[in-house]
Amino acid sequence: MEKKVTTATLMEMKQKGEKITMLTAYDYPISYITEKAGIEVVLIGDSLGNVVLGYDNTLPVTVNDIIYHTKAVVRGNKKSLIVADMPFLSYKISKEEAVRNAGRMIQEGGASAVKVEGGAEISDIISSIIKADIPVMGHLGLTPQAINQFGSYKTRGVDKKEAQKIISDAKELEKLGVFAIVLEKIPLELAKKITASISIPTIGIGAGPFCDGQVLVTYDMLGLFSKFLPKFVKKYADLDKEITNAFLAFSQEVKNGKFPDKDKHSF
Ligand code: KIV
Repeated sequence: MEKKVTTATLMEMKQKGEKITMLTAYDYPISYITEKAGIEVVLIGDSLGNVVLGYDNTLPVTVNDIIYHTKAVVRGNKKSLIVADMPFLSYKISKEEAVRNAGRMIQEGGASAVKVEGGAEISDIISSIIKADIPVMGHLGLTPQAINQFGSYKTRGVDKKEAQKIISDAKELEKLGVFAIVLEKIPLELAKKITASISIPTIGIGAGPFCDGQVLVTYDMLGLFSKFLPKFVKKYADLDKEITNAFLAFSQEVKNGKFPDKDKHSF
């Protein structure tokens, strides 16, 4: 990745049929590695509630949590497009509050864009954020902040009525000027249809191979969060095992006097 990725880069990639990669990051070292690996978009997802802070869902995550982690991610990566997730209640109370909180993500956190969950019901809010010159990424399908409405994390858009609503929401978001849409846990044929019917990129997570790009929660794909692994996650590493082995080796060597070595690690 030579140049800094912008929202325009993603649009060009869709036009050329080049797949977009997106991962979550919450800290400096992982962010640094996403840049080295040429990942185009890095999201400070509110999934940090689950995988970093140990909550049962994303609802307790605050604007200050996201800003704190965004600052670290921005310090580690100068090339990817950095997107800060707007947490639960930070953008649905009023347009003013939404713009103020989105503005904090940019001004204090250093992000270049924000992500919000929802469709036509928050059109006016999305519009206000974009009018404040803050690029917005959408998120449709399974929207984890609505867990108490949905009652479960099951696949969305399976029945015709809900599928139709997701299609019309995607078109509405495109009309509002959203620069890309995350499609989470919807049937692959529905994601394919949406991807073909809008000009902005779709980024899938559990939405099949026909989206313009793919996103995963980094701690899931690295095997660092083993409490629960959704079917749509592919584990590319087993860091839980690696780290456990490292800690066991350290513990054993301290206890048997092998570490620290009196020459190599001492003064
Ligand atoms: O919070 C998050 O990590 C997300 C991704 C799953 C897209 O919203």
